[in-house]
Formats: sequence, C-alpha cells, structure tokens
Amino acid sequence: MTVARRLLHTERLVLRPTVAADAARAFEIQSDWQVTRMLRMAPFPPDRQEIGRWFLDQPREWVAGEAYRFAAEHEGRMIGMVDIDEIGDGVGSLGYWFDRTSWGRGHAFEAAQAVIRFAREDVGFAGLKSGHAADNAASGRVLAKLGFSLVDTVQLFSRSRGETIDQHRYTLRFRS
Ligand SMILES: CC(C)(COP(=O)(O)OP(=O)(O)OC[C@H]1O[C@@H](n2cnc3c(N)ncnc32)[C@H](O)[C@@H]1OP(=O)(O)O)[C@@H](O)C(=O)NCCC(=O)NCCS
Repeated sequence: MTVARRLLHTERLVLRPTVAADAARAFEIQSDWQVTRMLRMAPFPPDRQEIGRWFLDQPREWVAGEAYRFAAEHEGRMIGMVDIDEIGDGVGSLGYWFDRTSWGRGHAFEAAQAVIRFAREDVGFAGLKSGHAADNAASGRVLAKLGFSLVDTVQLFSRSRGETIDQHRYTLRFRS
C-alpha cells in the first residue's frame, strides 16, 4: 500500500514531500562545504545534473516505498531536507541537512521529530537507523535529543571528503 504524500506541520516548519523543482535550492545548500562534508554519499562540489536527476526520481521512490524525502520550509523557503531511505526489514535510515544560515535554532530537531512520527504512524516502521561522522558533534546531539542510541563506530568511505572516516551508527526502536 502506498503511503500518502502529505504535509507535516510543526510549530515553525512545514515538511513537504520533495518535488523536482527543489533541486536548485538543494544544489545551493550543498554548495557549502560545511554542509556537504558531513554528507557521506554526496559529491563536493555538488553536481547540478546529478542533483536534478535525484530530485526528479524522488516522487517515484516514494510511491515504490524506497525512500520518503521531505523539504523543510521555514516562512515559505526551503531550508533543508529530512529523509528516510535504505529501507528494509521494517526500518529505514534517517538523514537530514540544513542551510548553514538556519543552524542553531532547533530546526533539525523539530523537523526530524515530525518525520520520525511519520515513520512510526504513517509508514508503520518498527524503528529507524541513523549515523554521523565522528567529528559531527551537532548531529550527534540532534540524534541524542531524538532518543537514538549509539550502536557502534565503523569506518566508511565519505564521497564528499574522498577518504575513509569514522562513522557513529545509531538506532531508535518504536517497538520491540
Ligand atoms: C547537523 C545539523 C542538521 C543540525 O542542525 P540544527 O538545526 O543546527 O540542529 P538543532 O539546532 O536542532 O540542534 C543542534 C544541537 O547541537 C548542538 N551543537 C551544535 N554545534 C555543536 C558542537 N560543535 N558540539 C556539540 N554540540 C553542538 C546545539 O547546541 C544543539 O543542541 P541543544 O539543542 O542541546 O543546544 C546541521 O548542522 C547541518 O545541516 N549540518 C550539515 C549536514 C549534516 O551534518 N547532516 C547530518 C549528517 S549525519
């Protein structure tokens, strides 16, 4: 059964399923090294065509149940993205990235909280995974505030950095 594409509202933000036109703003946000160095799967500098193709495919991914990706909007402007991908065995992987000008205001926590509720109630996942580079303390703090537990630390290749990094991996169980 297809999960309905719907808006999620928080106190300050609107989370809406992404559309192809969001690629331009995503390219702008990912053109900041301080953002993209923390994104393991993203190239730096970003590739406009690759981002365009990725966003074009996201409505299909949603219908196929492969990934649920939301643009986070504040006062009508896209400030970041929160998504769930790598779906399998009743769990998905939570990811997020925000424009540097919006950092430090609790936006990531607020947006991720809403997407976690969506994952539990709309999709019916049993839990979520997530992870962050060992030098990404802000993301570690966001995951801790969201209730995630540290599982382990592994070495993984970071596409943006072009080198192997230590990655902390986390889990959040909705039910046992
Ligand atoms: C990680 C990121 C999403 C956080 O966004 P944000 O909107 O600033 O996050 P929030 O404001 O909700 O929470 C950040 C928390 O980290 C804390 N923090 C920020 N920088 C920190 C640092 N260097 N060390 C420790 N804690 C830090 C903040 O104080 C805050 O915690 P608090 O609410 O207890 O004060 C944002 O920095 C970002 O987009 N980074 C680049 C992409 C990225 O890292 N994505 C995640 C990949 S795993």
